[in-house]
Amino acid sequence: MNDGNKGLAPANTRRGFLKTTAAGVISFPMVMRSQTLGANSPSKRITMGIIGCGNQAEHDLKQWLPMEDVQIVAVCDVNKASHGYVRDTQFLGREPVREMVEKAYAERSASGTFKGCAAYVDFRELLARKDIDTVAIITPDHWHAIQTIQAAAAGKDIYCQKPLSLTVRDGQEMIKAVRKYNRVLQTGSQWRSTTFLNDFCKAIREGVVGKPQRVVTYVAKNNFTGPGPGWQPMPIPEGFEYDMWLGPAPEVPYHKDRCLYRFRFGSDYSGGQTTNFGHHAIGVAMWALGLDETMPEELWNMGAEFPLKGDLYDTATKVHFGFRYADGLEMECVTSPKSFGVRIEGDKGWIETNGRKITESSSPEIAKAVPGAGTAAQFTAHYRRFIDCVKSREDPNEPVEIGSRVSNVCHLGNIAMQLDRRIRWDAKNETIAGDDEAAKMLGRPHRAPWSYKV
Ligand SMILES: NC(=O)c1ccc[n+]([C@@H]2O[C@H](COP(=O)([O-])OP(=O)(O)OC[C@H]3O[C@@H](n4cnc5c(N)ncnc54)[C@H](O)[C@@H]3O)[C@@H](O)[C@H]2O)c1
Repeated sequence: MNDGNKGLAPANTRRGFLKTTAAGVISFPMVMRSQTLGANSPSKRITMGIIGCGNQAEHDLKQWLPMEDVQIVAVCDVNKASHGYVRDTQFLGREPVREMVEKAYAERSASGTFKGCAAYVDFRELLARKDIDTVAIITPDHWHAIQTIQAAAAGKDIYCQKPLSLTVRDGQEMIKAVRKYNRVLQTGSQWRSTTFLNDFCKAIREGVVGKPQRVVTYVAKNNFTGPGPGWQPMPIPEGFEYDMWLGPAPEVPYHKDRCLYRFRFGSDYSGGQTTNFGHHAIGVAMWALGLDETMPEELWNMGAEFPLKGDLYDTATKVHFGFRYADGLEMECVTSPKSFGVRIEGDKGWIETNGRKITESSSPEIAKAVPGAGTAAQFTAHYRRFIDCVKSREDPNEPVEIGSRVSNVCHLGNIAMQLDRRIRWDAKNETIAGDDEAAKMLGRPHRAPWSYKV
């Protein structure tokens, strides 16, 4: 099976076939999905399709591409190719990312060439391919639920970026679909798998700071500002399928600050830094404190600030909310120049991490309890765990239930900040108790023809 090219399948060594896609006619090798071949087949290569070829896809690809038992056979993006992502130097979209994939595989092939990655505009065409085992969903948050549900129904295992959902209802529907179709889902919260944070969480649970009493989670400041009130629509760039970018979100005029990367700051597409960094920071705190299976009872605003009315952006410019669990433990989530971090104060001392090291502590002894440092290389374990779980059918480190619970804390925090009042979570009925206006914010209408239905 392995033809001396490190487990890859160059088109010139295998039976290729032609496939017409919205992106043109391309040829790619026939790759059989792992389930078809059986778990003990000599080829245990897991085939993958990438949905969303933007900023984070570049990072995720660096993890998947070197894995010898993973082969990316297709990419999909509504953007053909452009600048306009988070950094000026980035040129992304389905064609540059397809090239990235083919170049990486070509460098490892005996012939030095590789053509075998299809490019799609419509993710449903990618999902229809029977030879694809898994998908990585790296689109803006307003697409995560619908794409996850459709991928699960199509029999794919799913690596879905964090925040897992746009709303609490999204998470409920994602859990139902993943479990109904027996799929593996790993939330794309790579901090969950670093050795350093694992040691940090273990030390907290072993009582390094005693009984936790107060926890603060830090999120980064907004790295873009909106165009302000009075912004004017812009022409849709060529090669950008704007209607398919909007998908289930309301129909509104195009503006560049609405879409690539910057979608984070518009509540129709995301939850601002509350969900962007909050999913990471609150997720680590929940993990450390053994709260993955539970939800806070009450959440409140602690002084959040928002952009001017009429701006394109409407998510918090300053995040600050508090939440309390049944046992009385209180947490905060706050915008900080520290960018990302978790501080845990207990009755014996306190400790703070930025995810990569202990940044502060009440005593050197406490800091010494978590030796070592987290590195970007440690993120690989998260991606690796997903592939291993695809093979073993186990649940990965942040399965759909935990991923949606972490996102839910962020969503409820956003609701408390937007309404500027205390809200109470009714865990039994999975709703906000005694506040119809707040409860309505748990879901969003979908623009036709998009819905949770498959
Ligand atoms: N784990 C992390 O540390 C991390 C870091 C950054 C981003 N993310 C997450 O990754 C996701 C994407 O963020 P990003 O920064 O890469 O955004 P981005 O805008 O840079 O990239 C998203 C890409 O998805 C494409 N897209 C939009 N709708 C699509 C559709 N219907 N079908 C196919 N492609 C579509 C866009 O055109 C764009 O190219 C978000 O959920 C974000 O929170 C995670």
